[in-house]
Amino acid sequence: MRFKWWGTILGAIATVTMGLVGLVSARGQAGQAAARPQMAEEAFKNVQVLKGIPVDEFMDTMGMFSSALGLCCTDCHGREAEGNVAAFAVETDKIRQSRGMIAMMNTLNNNFFGGDQRVTCFTCHRGGEGIPETIPDLSIQYSEPREPSPNSMDIARSTRSPQPVFDKYMQALGGAQRVAALTSFTATGTYTGYETGMGPVQMQLYAKAPNQRAMVLKMPEEDGVRVYDGSNGWVVGPEKAVPITTLSGPNLFAARMEAMISFPAGIQREFTQWLSGSAVIDGNEMAVAQGSKAGQLPVSFYFDQASGLLKRVVRWNATAVGAVPTQIEFDDYRAVAGVQMPFKVVTTWTNGQSTLLLTDVRPNVAIDAARFGRPAPARDRR
Ligand code: HEC
Ligand code: HEC
Repeated sequence: MRFKWWGTILGAIATVTMGLVGLVSARGQAGQAAARPQMAEEAFKNVQVLKGIPVDEFMDTMGMFSSALGLCCTDCHGREAEGNVAAFAVETDKIRQSRGMIAMMNTLNNNFFGGDQRVTCFTCHRGGEGIPETIPDLSIQYSEPREPSPNSMDIARSTRSPQPVFDKYMQALGGAQRVAALTSFTATGTYTGYETGMGPVQMQLYAKAPNQRAMVLKMPEEDGVRVYDGSNGWVVGPEKAVPITTLSGPNLFAARMEAMISFPAGIQREFTQWLSGSAVIDGNEMAVAQGSKAGQLPVSFYFDQASGLLKRVVRWNATAVGAVPTQIEFDDYRAVAGVQMPFKVVTTWTNGQSTLLLTDVRPNVAIDAARFGRPAPARDRR
């Protein structure tokens, strides 16, 4: 397990979000356009290369670095960065090398690939199996070719309509009528993730059709809150430094998708273009439907051929140094008001993994609209 950097990330995210508080309280009421996201160089002290990108995208580039090189945050930033946000600005050899690598990568892409991100940190570093090899490996040459990853962005290439797959999904869920009749639910359960130190905490979920969602994590010190109100998204961390983050770009779209998946009738309409494909996950045949819309990377939906139910969603966040993936897995489907609902959701991304387990789900209850409003910022601990 490579994720040894939880505490550090928490610190970093806390800093990231601190600066947003002012912006957000001035605007960002439910229904209004989201506040302008803060740029990395405004939030941080020593950004020399990755300028002009929002803070949440900047953190996704750190996810790319960690994932592509198989390194913890502190492997590059130094031990002092553990729990000490200011120390992230300290220059180390690895940081200097990485800045050079960004320049090299951009030169390659601009000069040889027409500016497309054909070369990323992962292209050479492949998840951190040491310094990239220069000498061919005979054991690779003479072994069976590797299967393409089921999570590849190219998994769906056919222009065949995925309509039958969605029809079967609707049927498997309990039928369009029952799905349409489920217009809200609340749930309790547990959440386990990096921000909880990989231990479970109590969780409350509120969801309202077509696309509102709020999750409250009962952290020891203070609640963690994530909200999507139908157009804006916020994250209030349980971290030490009182933050509220206004989501932007791909992370805002991710919050929207997460909310919509609770009320699946809207998924098809959300995208303007669909491709089809197939994949095998854990030995099970999957039908893949990949949706696209302007301004976002595609989203792949994996439906179990046997049950017809949604098994996995894979999506990507574009960043200045290439796209980073997020995988969401759905399991333990149970009927709620006659509609099949996943009681276990595991989300895996470049900075960590979280598990959501639902216990008590109450369908079609009234939910106070304030639940989906901008959450109160956490206590300022600066
Ligand atoms: C492969 C090396 C590498 C890894 C791993 C890495 N970073 Fe960085 N980090 C950098 C570089 C390089 C910069 C400076 C970017 C620039 O100058 O544009 C940076 C800058 C930062 C900054 C801005 C600091 C400041 O005040 O200027 C923060 C915060 C940060 N990283 C957090 C993280 C976190 C959190 C992780 C783990 C998820 C992480 N980094 C993993 C290389 C790395
Ligand atoms: C075109 C291939 C290529 C790409 C793309 C690439 N690297 Fe490298 N990287 C290398 C090679 C080769 C080395 C080893 C250099 C050496 O032996 O001194 C290296 C070394 C490094 C090191 C030092 C490793 C160590 O253990 O000290 C860091 C840090 C690094 N790369 C970060 C990055 C980051 C971050 C990116 C993406 C922005 C990136 N690299 C993209 C080829 C690449």
